[in-house]
Amino acid sequence: MTAARKVLVTGGAGFIGANFVRYWSECYPSDRIIVLDALTYAGNLANLESVAAGDNYRFVHGNILDVATIDELMLGEQVDTIVHFAAESHVDRSIHEPDAFIQTNVIGTNNLLMAARKHWIDSDSGPAAHLFHHVSTDEVYGTLGPDDPAFTEQTLYAPNSPYAASKAASDHLVRSYHHTFGMQVTTSNCSNNYGPYQFPEKLIPLMIVNAVTGKPLPVYGDGSNIRDWLYVEDHCRGIDRVINQGQRGATYNIGGNNEWRNIDIVNQLCKSIDAAFEADDQLAAHFPDAPAAGGKKTESLITFVKDRLGHDWRYAIDATLAESELGYKPLESFESGFQLTLNWMLQNEMWWRAVMDGSYRDWISKNYSADD
Ligand code: NAD
Ligand code: DAU
Repeated sequence: MTAARKVLVTGGAGFIGANFVRYWSECYPSDRIIVLDALTYAGNLANLESVAAGDNYRFVHGNILDVATIDELMLGEQVDTIVHFAAESHVDRSIHEPDAFIQTNVIGTNNLLMAARKHWIDSDSGPAAHLFHHVSTDEVYGTLGPDDPAFTEQTLYAPNSPYAASKAASDHLVRSYHHTFGMQVTTSNCSNNYGPYQFPEKLIPLMIVNAVTGKPLPVYGDGSNIRDWLYVEDHCRGIDRVINQGQRGATYNIGGNNEWRNIDIVNQLCKSIDAAFEADDQLAAHFPDAPAAGGKKTESLITFVKDRLGHDWRYAIDATLAESELGYKPLESFESGFQLTLNWMLQNEMWWRAVMDGSYRDWISKNYSADD
């Protein structure tokens, strides 16, 4: 596809979606981007401020559960490319309230596929070329032991949380639309992302916020669980490669080749925050409740808490296929990506205070007691 595309980005006001919209509008300024987002607690228009003024950009406040809205957009905008991020994405929430995950992640994905089929395949006036790119997760593969090889695209699906099961179901639906209706689809399964605009319910931003506001750093279980971390812009680069070069009908794993135990991440984060406060005494004035503001070690806040139910022990991605076939390679090391993230969080207090002001607080107080 070389002509300018009309790209519908679902979930574009969320963490990865917003980073992707910024990335894509810089790389492909002649493409039109239409963001469709329900603005749940995780979606925030502030994430899109830097692209909002562009002529080739439109934001639609709408839900992928609303078939009429999707139909109207597909037809009215003559969409030829869908990049599907919209999802309920937090594992802990899926343990407490799985229904929203089935609605958005399964039914919502099916709604998009049905609309795409109607406008791209069943209609005589569909676009010359089309693509449905589905953004998925490594959690569909289940959990690994210490000596297991990393997940490849051939690893059998074994989702363990309601979130992972809902994403697995959506992956299968996307696959089936290729096989049954000939829809041009690609899927990427990615490991844990981190970076700017990540809602502070996920490990890294939550720990940074708690550390600078002097709150406990809750490490689940014994902290030995392992995740494979990827800087969000590297994920966007990977999706770009899949969209532009990936084989239609194929799935690609995207990862950082960067496994860390949770406790090591938290310890590293504490050291980096101590160093940041030592290097810049304005931080102490700005965040007076941080232990580091009083010369104490941030690690004093580490608190081991009750483990997550069904907590997957280890994820690791083998991205060989994306590397060899698409030339994908992450550009950030964990050190550089983490420093960018920490600096962004320290400079964007207004952002994280604002996004945490809403329903997230109510949900936390409803589902977690102080000693959980
Ligand atoms: P997020 O929770 O930050 O954002 C989700 C976005 O989807 C929000 O803007 C929200 O308002 C929107 N949304 C939710 N329900 C909707 C609905 N019914 N209709 C329209 N919009 C809706 O999520 P994220 O971390 O940016 O993840 C984006 C995608 O990437 C998800 O599909 C997730 O499964 C996948 N993924 C995430 C990670 C990660 O580490 N965060 C890793 C791999 C894959
Ligand atoms: O692997 C990709 C997945 O990564 C994505 O599909 C999900 O959308 C995304 O949320 C993420 O899932 P995780 O459950 O791995 O991310 P989370 O940040 O919630 O947790 C990371 C690890 O840290 C996990 O082992 C649980 C642990 N943890 C998390 C929180 C929020 C803690 O120990 N304490 C915490 O407070």
